This record gives sequence, structure tokens and C-alpha cells, in this order.
Amino acid sequence: MQDKIQQITEGFEAEISAVKDLKMLEELRLQYLSKKGLVSVLLEEFKQLPVDQKKELGQVVNKMKNQIQDRFNSVKTELEESGSVTDEFIDLSLPGRKKNIGTKHILTQTLDEIKDIFRVLGFSVQEGPELESDYYNFEALNFAPDHPARDMQDTFFVNEKFVLRTHTSPVQIRLMEEKKPPIRAIMPGKVYRNEAVSAKSYCLFHQVEGLYIDTDVTFAELKGMLISFVKQFFGEDTPYRFRKSFFPFTEPSAEMDIWWQPSGKEGRWMEILGCGMVDPNVLKNVGIDPEIYSGYAFGMGVERTAMRKYGIDDIRVFFDNDKRFLVQF
Ligand code: DAH
Repeated sequence: MQDKIQQITEGFEAEISAVKDLKMLEELRLQYLSKKGLVSVLLEEFKQLPVDQKKELGQVVNKMKNQIQDRFNSVKTELEESGSVTDEFIDLSLPGRKKNIGTKHILTQTLDEIKDIFRVLGFSVQEGPELESDYYNFEALNFAPDHPARDMQDTFFVNEKFVLRTHTSPVQIRLMEEKKPPIRAIMPGKVYRNEAVSAKSYCLFHQVEGLYIDTDVTFAELKGMLISFVKQFFGEDTPYRFRKSFFPFTEPSAEMDIWWQPSGKEGRWMEILGCGMVDPNVLKNVGIDPEIYSGYAFGMGVERTAMRKYGIDDIRVFFDNDKRFLVQF
């Protein structure tokens, strides 16, 4: 009996080592483990043995049975697992599936770039609310009560006291109320105008406000700083000019234009910002002594700078969320 047990164990091991697929394994199962298989037959024989021999061989028979069953099971799972992969046809020449992760909106990219340039010029970045009181949006900025900018045409009034800010200049006031000079900051953000939507204007756009307050700040410094910005942002040879202008909160005031040459169209000057020396009345409104301090300010249109830089000729495309436009940047 013991010889038989050894024969079956060795025979099974030799055969299962040669098994290559599930079909061969099934044949082996029939041969050894089915009802009429070698193992079952041996177990039947074992049952017929006298009691003393049963005692002697019981453990050996059990061990053989379990060993064969375990070995069979592990080969089976191995074949099933590898089979599920090798059976499948994989075309290695197919291009991979592209994951579309979003990109930064072109306006965000432009704002990041503007912030980076001003940071190096020594400006910190500050923010203020989009919902403003009439005081911050107009009054503190020296707008006379009958100034045309307060007109219903330009301003989205929320109620009698509050408006959607029409520019980022009110953040200047908030900053000067909070901090003592020297102050040197830019204030980017969204602004709102109640204007007819066209290729040139939209009801919402972005501005970057700038403010520098200290003793002995000059207009020449303002010009030099803005020229340095334009050269860094648009390129060293970009034509620019300053024109005199008027804003209630600056005196003197100017506007800066840069030359825009859209391909295939006639070139023209394009206004990108307003600027000037902070009006002494504004300094008084925030409790800064105009006899000691002076300062300059500027407000830049972000969409315009992006349009000029990337050759976009319709402001509305920034807000359409059309992927065909957005993916280009
Ligand atoms: N707030 C002005 C506008 O929206 C732009 C502006 C002009 C801002 C002159 C300034 C400035 O800070 O000094 O049209």
C-alpha cells in the first residue's frame, strides 16, 4: 500500500508539472481526483484494510490526498489568472487614451504673468470685494455727485447704496485705510459695466489696479515703471505712448496706448491703462497727509492686454467657454 501511495504521489507530481493549460489539467483531474480516479480507488482500498493497518497508514493516506488536492488547486488558479490575460488580444500599436486635464484659462495665465512682473518690481498683490458701496466705488475716489460714470448706463446698481464695482480703484481706498505708507501693491480682479456687449466691450472684465504711496513719488517714476512693464510683457520693441487724460482720483492723469497690428488689418493705437498721481483729495479721504505723502496709481484692462499679446480681436471669446478657443493656450 505504501508503495502505491508513493507511486501515485510521484506520478501526479510529474504529470502536473507538465500541465500547460486548463484542458490538460481537467484530464489530470479525471485521472486522479474523479470518483473513479486513482486517488478515490486507493481510498476505497484503504477502507478495506484491517484496523491495525488503517491506524498505521491513515495519516500517510490523508497527507497524500491533501497534498494532491492542494497542488491541483494552486495550479488551477495560476492557469485561470494568467489565462485571462493571455487569451485577450492586445493591440500594442493602438495610441494611448489621452486624459484631458484642464488648462488654466488664458485670462488666468495673463493675470499670473502680470502679477509675476509686478512682484519683481516690488508690488504686493491685494484683493477687494466685487460688491462695493457707492462710497468706495465713487465718493472716496473724488467722483462728484453728478459725475457721468455714476449714470445708470455704466453701473450695475444693486440697491441705492451698493453697486457691482465698475473698476478696481476702490481697492486703493480700502488699502490706504488699512495700511500706513509706504504702500506698493497691485489689485487684480473682476469689474462690471452696464454696457452693450460687442466685440470691443463686455459687461464683465478684469482690471489690475496699481498703487504706490510714499514720500517724494514722481510722475517720472510712474512712467518708467509702466514702460518697464510694457517691455517685459509685450516685448522690448513694442511702440507705446502716453496721452493726457482725466480721472477724478488722479491729477495729472494720463492714458497709455500701445501699437496694435493685427495680421492682415490696419494697425492702430490701443489704450491699455489709465494712470496718474493720486489726487490730494483722495489722500485726505483716507487720512493720509498730502503735504507729506504723494503717490501714483494706474488701472489696466486685462482682456485688452491679452488680446494684444495673443492677437485676439473679439473680447467675447474669453467668456464663451468654447473649448476650441480655450485649448489653444
Ligand atoms: N479706474 C479707471 C477706469 O476704470 C482706470 C484708472 C485710471 C485707474 C487712472 C487708476 C488711475 O488707478 O490712476 O477707467
